[in-house]
Amino acid sequence: MVKEKFYVTTPIYYPNDIPHIGHAYTTVIADVVARWNKLLGKDVYFLTGTDDHGKKIADTAEAAGKSPMEFVDDLIPKFKDAWSKMGIEYDRFIRTTDKDHEKNVQSMLQKSYDNGDIYLGEYEGLYCIGCEQYYTEKDLEDGCCPIHKKPVEKVKEETYFFRLSKYQDKLLELYEKNLEFISPPRRRQEIINRVKEGLRDLSISRTSFDWGVKLPFDKKHVCYVWFDALFNYVSGVDDKSRWPADIHLIGKDIIWFHTVYWPAFLMSVGEELPKKVFAHGWWTFDNEKISKSVGKVINIDELVAITGNKDSARYFLCRATPFGDDGDFSESALVDRHNGELLNKLGNLVSRTTGLIEKYGVEKCESGLVVNFDSINSLMQNLEIDKALNEIFAFIDLCNEYIQEKKPWATQDKKVLYELADAIKNIAILLYPFIPSTSEKIADKFGGFKFTKEGLNLPFDVNIEIKKGEGLFVRIEQEEPEAISQKSGIKKKDKKVNKEKKAEGVMTLGEVTFEDFAKLDLRVAEIKEVEEIEDADKLYKISLDVGENIGARTVCAGIKKYYSKEDLIGRKIVYFANLKPRKMKGVVSEGMLFAASTEDDSQVSLINPGEIANGSQVS
Ligand code: MSP
Repeated sequence: MVKEKFYVTTPIYYPNDIPHIGHAYTTVIADVVARWNKLLGKDVYFLTGTDDHGKKIADTAEAAGKSPMEFVDDLIPKFKDAWSKMGIEYDRFIRTTDKDHEKNVQSMLQKSYDNGDIYLGEYEGLYCIGCEQYYTEKDLEDGCCPIHKKPVEKVKEETYFFRLSKYQDKLLELYEKNLEFISPPRRRQEIINRVKEGLRDLSISRTSFDWGVKLPFDKKHVCYVWFDALFNYVSGVDDKSRWPADIHLIGKDIIWFHTVYWPAFLMSVGEELPKKVFAHGWWTFDNEKISKSVGKVINIDELVAITGNKDSARYFLCRATPFGDDGDFSESALVDRHNGELLNKLGNLVSRTTGLIEKYGVEKCESGLVVNFDSINSLMQNLEIDKALNEIFAFIDLCNEYIQEKKPWATQDKKVLYELADAIKNIAILLYPFIPSTSEKIADKFGGFKFTKEGLNLPFDVNIEIKKGEGLFVRIEQEEPEAISQKSGIKKKDKKVNKEKKAEGVMTLGEVTFEDFAKLDLRVAEIKEVEEIEDADKLYKISLDVGENIGARTVCAGIKKYYSKEDLIGRKIVYFANLKPRKMKGVVSEGMLFAASTEDDSQVSLINPGEIANGSQVS
């Protein structure tokens, strides 16, 4: 049977510095999309690489005292290493300095020239090296490039032009005919409007430097870096029949090049057009633009080191923001996802189930825990990646609730354990594209299974020996905000009192500054379950629902004197979500509840946030 082909690409990155989280984002998503399509049984091809030519690289190399080739040769291994550290498996890493690509670019230039789409002229314009793009006066902000905020260069030289203006109507027709060509759809109109304003012919060669592909019909000129770069998508395939690409994944910054220049170049040389260009949003870091000069940059080693687990970083990038929207990265947001979702939900489900199976075994039965694959797949087809993960995690929640409800530790019901084992197998298959090494670890515990769509329907093999082994994730301790610890102003005696109270799950705030207080993450949460703790006369173990993003949390609170279990279940409260977890009477408490009390503690009242949604911030 001939497999359906699927071809996905990332932009090829400028190797002028080591890659950061923004580059990792597109590459991780491309890897997830590639793996998802492999799971569906398609013959997948995934291309990534580097954009080695251009003035920006030539200038950076010169400043570093190296030849451009030496300079990029030194950086390429850093990209390959970064992608391997993120668990990315591409089919080819293309460089625009690869000989087959250079040959392809020359042949495309010749075709376009022979078709009458390239002509010689003189260009006088304003060029931003950062963008590798010309601007007009009206595009500039205070004489600077609107993106890089740096002065543009005045350029006047003989140049070859590409007849972009000729393609205006054809492009508009393309956008009309293929509604998905510019995705997500909300980015379409802006491009259409700009194209309707009129397209000027594009300068596609330079004579003032030589770091690029020479024009085959005039060797004095080197090819404009974007003409060269875009054709990587055609040069990079292992077999011509893979073209056109099913999807080009790009950042929103380069949508114009991909949805205007690129289809026009392809029309000119008579190649088919890609089926879809999907532009995602931009990441900020602690709400600031990612930028090396202000120290707001996070490279791949740093990203992976935060949790020590590449899968947590992959999961975060996929889950934290809808694909297409901007997102903010922070260390604490990553750790929250790692602890709250991967460890508390997935890790606990797997460790509880495997532990019980080790003790009691499984017995085959019809499973009631069924995951809706079609619905997840249709989200993946629309690149609603965060929603697909959300749905898989809703299934994990369901399994966790099932354990609580069926209590197999008490009933020793082997059929319930079989259902859970089968569900975990399916969860591992579905999560494989997102967090492949974690899925492999799960498969190992379960005697190994394949990550294919068909595997979802294969019943779980009861003869396999299941091993609990090590946990999938290690909890990451977050720093406790100073406000809560020993901040100035609390007298020694008070401190002691505070310490005693701390053991009861109660703390009072001393004199804190506003900055200290602002570090606290207060959230609306709902009490789902209340349990006694052995040997504790004041403490309850309380399970909370802190909304979709944070998830389930457990806290120990010294409020037994004031509230019965029934009083508490279903109650909305205010929860301190970013305190360092601590063990109390053998139970890990992940934060505290907010309450008012009289001086002598004879009365305590939990603060009531009303019917505000779980997870909402209290500020
Ligand atoms: N070389 C061109 C692309 C040529 S494709 C034929 C280029 N390279 S780049 O190194 O500047 O990388 C651009 C891509 O990196 C963006 O489109 C985006 O995919 C990714 N990102 C870089 N910074 C980013 C963020 N801060 N956030 C998200 N992605 C960003 O342009």
